[in-house]
Amino acid sequence: MNYRHSFHAGNHADVLKHAVLLRVLNLMQRKTTPLCYLDSHAGTALYDLQGDDASRTGEYLDGIGRLWERDDLPELLADYRAAVARQNPDGALRFYPGSPQLAADLLREQDRMILSELHLEDAATLREHFAGHPAVAVHHRDGYELPKAFLPVAEKRALWLLDPPFEKSDDLQRCVDGVQQAIGRMRQTVIALWYPIKDERLLRDFYRRIAEAEVPKVLRVELHVRPIDTGLGLNGSGLMLINPPWPLWEELEAVLPWLASQLAQAPGGGWRMDWLVGEP
Ligand SMILES: C[S@@+](CC[C@H](N)C(=O)[O-])C[C@H]1O[C@@H](n2cnc3c(N)ncnc32)[C@H](O)[C@@H]1O
Repeated sequence: MNYRHSFHAGNHADVLKHAVLLRVLNLMQRKTTPLCYLDSHAGTALYDLQGDDASRTGEYLDGIGRLWERDDLPELLADYRAAVARQNPDGALRFYPGSPQLAADLLREQDRMILSELHLEDAATLREHFAGHPAVAVHHRDGYELPKAFLPVAEKRALWLLDPPFEKSDDLQRCVDGVQQAIGRMRQTVIALWYPIKDERLLRDFYRRIAEAEVPKVLRVELHVRPIDTGLGLNGSGLMLINPPWPLWEELEAVLPWLASQLAQAPGGGWRMDWLVGEP
């Protein structure tokens, strides 16, 4: 396990993932009934953007950095920036919240959260951060085990963020298996599966397998900061959204063109959103 999210926190991929994650949670919370948030590859709760790792790559500058001082953000992105701003009360961008913190900020009295992180140190930091928070459980275990270990949940409503580091060649297949397992155990589970786009050709098999995975609805959402066939680094990222709440796709359709234009790093990028399964 070499991957450390501290090098990448707040980059363009985090912007897409976290802005969508927050909106999905918001939409699910329109109902007052309890829900369970599962974060299988949680990372830690807070990243210091002036620390050695983030300042070495400077990736956040082309992510949250490009939105931080804008006064013309569309509402969905303004909500996301406000969530980051909660960690930076003096107004300067220094700390970036990871997915567990972003979700914890939205947790209502009736909701709970299950986090797992395999990196020993990060799991310990996470446990310490949420100590005394009775609705948050932190596990040091393989995140792909979450569906088997926890689904179905008593609340009957769950959102699973599946966000592995994709260091291993079988990660995409393990994600497809995880999605199938989760839906098999609780059909209405909402899943946000994040994936990197380096060379689109390498993803074709993944797209096909997700489309054939016998899940009810799959919305594919992608943001491309450069052309997606260069094979040079992270050209973009995507989210497979299983059972996304309405009207997420309509909202994203309004926001993605603006976001793609703001986060572009070279001509030839853009965005795409389509249904791999369900909804015309
Ligand atoms: C992309 S980062 C997570 C970022 C976080 N979800 C966020 O959005 O802020 C992936 C994390 O998964 C952890 N990890 C790697 N393999 C894992 C596994 N099999 N189970 C659980 N965590 C794992 C890594 O240590 C890393 O912290």
